[in-house]
Amino acid sequence: MEFVRRGACITALGWVLVGTANLVVAGDPNVLKPRVPADQIDEAKTWQNPFPNTPENIEIGKNIFHGKAFCVTCHGKDGTGLGNIPGLRGKLPRNFTDKAWQATRTDGELFWILKNGSPGTDMASFVPLVLTEEEAWHVLLYVRSFGQ
Ligand code: HEC
Repeated sequence: MEFVRRGACITALGWVLVGTANLVVAGDPNVLKPRVPADQIDEAKTWQNPFPNTPENIEIGKNIFHGKAFCVTCHGKDGTGLGNIPGLRGKLPRNFTDKAWQATRTDGELFWILKNGSPGTDMASFVPLVLTEEEAWHVLLYVRSFGQ
């Protein structure tokens, strides 16, 4: 009897470990849910990055990300979102190397986030206070480069 119960316990622990591993590998499904409000998302999806995806433009975005826009403090040097910000409310910064997340978002949706922030999270609005629209498009080329 004791043996059976211990077996069940070990099996349960096994499932918890498998579940945690899945979360780490596959990411949190919640990050795939749209962030742009339903009444604005159709319009946001039509916005396109006017700057071509060249190494020079990515470099400009990289300098902004690591420099004046301090994205790096939350999103991390490697874009995995493990920058260490004490007191982040609730949601973690995005993991930009998550290919599923990269595929599910349009450039326009990301641009909307840079303009408006992600409501209810620590992702603030950066355009126009910190970044011009041109700079925001460049930084998004860099964000996209983490997914390659
Ligand atoms: C104070 C911490 C912080 C800083 C600084 C910050 N972010 Fe974020 N960012 C977050 C958090 C937290 C989220 C997750 C929000 C959510 O889950 O909706 C996020 C989400 C995002 C997303 C994903 C939104 C989506 O559609 O899933 C993008 C893109 C992004 N940030 C870009 C940037 C860029 C570019 C900068 C610099 C200009 C920046 N962030 C600076 C905390 C930060």
